[in-house]
Amino acid sequence: MAEWFRRKPMTDAVPAGERLPRTLSWPHLLALGVGAIVGTGILTLIGVGADRAGPAVLVSFGIAGAICACAALAYAELATMMPAAGGAYSYAYATLGELIAWVIGWSLILEYSLVVSTVAVGWSGYAAPLLAGIGMPQALMAGPALGGIVNLPAIVIIAVVAGILMLGTQESARLNAALVLVKLVTLALFVAATLPSFDAANLHPFSPYGFAKAMGPDGVERGVMAAAAIIFFAFYGFDAIATAAEEAKRPERDLAIGIVGSMIVCTLVYVAVAAVAVGALPFTRFAASPEPLALILREIGQGWIARIVAVAAVIALPTVLLGFLYGQSRIFLVMARDGFLPIGLARVSARGTPVRITLVTAVLVAILAGFLPIDEIAALANAGTLIAFASVGLCLLVLRRRAPDMPRPFRAPLGWLVGPGAIGGCLYLFASLPEKTLLWSLGWNVVGLAVYLGYGRQRSVLGRG
Ligand code: ALA
Repeated sequence: MAEWFRRKPMTDAVPAGERLPRTLSWPHLLALGVGAIVGTGILTLIGVGADRAGPAVLVSFGIAGAICACAALAYAELATMMPAAGGAYSYAYATLGELIAWVIGWSLILEYSLVVSTVAVGWSGYAAPLLAGIGMPQALMAGPALGGIVNLPAIVIIAVVAGILMLGTQESARLNAALVLVKLVTLALFVAATLPSFDAANLHPFSPYGFAKAMGPDGVERGVMAAAAIIFFAFYGFDAIATAAEEAKRPERDLAIGIVGSMIVCTLVYVAVAAVAVGALPFTRFAASPEPLALILREIGQGWIARIVAVAAVIALPTVLLGFLYGQSRIFLVMARDGFLPIGLARVSARGTPVRITLVTAVLVAILAGFLPIDEIAALANAGTLIAFASVGLCLLVLRRRAPDMPRPFRAPLGWLVGPGAIGGCLYLFASLPEKTLLWSLGWNVVGLAVYLGYGRQRSVLGRG
């Protein structure tokens, strides 16, 4: 059992030949962060959130944002202390030991895979009306849960993004920066077009389902916290920046700017979008829509802006896929280097990208996106993320005690608040997820533990001395 607690040195060298080239500076990282954060959460899940909480989804946004801010600050401190490509997994391996690191890595695999699947399905929601216009049959644009056969657009978009990523990191980062601008301008346009229709009467009753998660008569769990547990999806993505640590030119400075900066930009944008959305229309009118922002615009008579938003979403949402598929391949890579996954997967191609892992990941997430419903995959993605974020809060506290003098290029302000805030907040959000999600998450972790005990434990590179 001693192996469960063995820890990796904080500044572990990467084997020669597997090193990723340093090509990214802070504007790339900021764009990678905003590109990975602003996506299906604000464009699509805002409808699910409103369904769960009513206009009080605004409070849900505030709660999820505050908890994510704690996690982001903890991430920034750890990412600049140990710029390793594995993010939360690497911090846990250096701080909490191998078994917990494995659990976190396994959770991150769940997070990154399911985010890619969720966003691909969200993308398809905005793309479907456009594709229907050119004759694509409905049955091929929705998974079985929505009465279709397969969500083909979701599969195709994953294939396209994976192809771009395999071309090279720098090329991907440049394209990403351009698309991020499209996304921010579009949301600004939405706010400007919707603001004149703001009617305070739409905010009453403000909180029809109360605060804590409670089962409704229709079998759906609702309340401000139930909505926060889903809306949480909208806020993360800054962790993808931490997985770029190995490729950052000046990781100690650039990571902090990227992580904290992207959180601030996104929170401001979300509060504005959510406020005008619930103010413009009674929430029940857009709660079930696969493209709620476009629907709101159409309902208030802004049809042509609705079309612009839909087209922009289709063009720009793939930045989230890019950020997460990128992060996923890096986490696989680091876990493979550590011996937990087959090492052949970790090979870096002549263009400096881990082609095989990108390919394997893309195939798996495309299958999920083709067949599963969006709210369920999003909730499960959140479960994995919340476990990882809570562990980052714990790592922050442990290292502040164990290595108080270790250089911290970025020191999270109010660490005594940020650490417990991340741990407690994430656990509360986790408990507020639907019961079904909690069961799936438990099952995933039981399988993960079996894989560790049956495979990873013996193959651990650290264990080989
Ligand atoms: N925050 C990302 C999104 O909302 C995952 O799409």
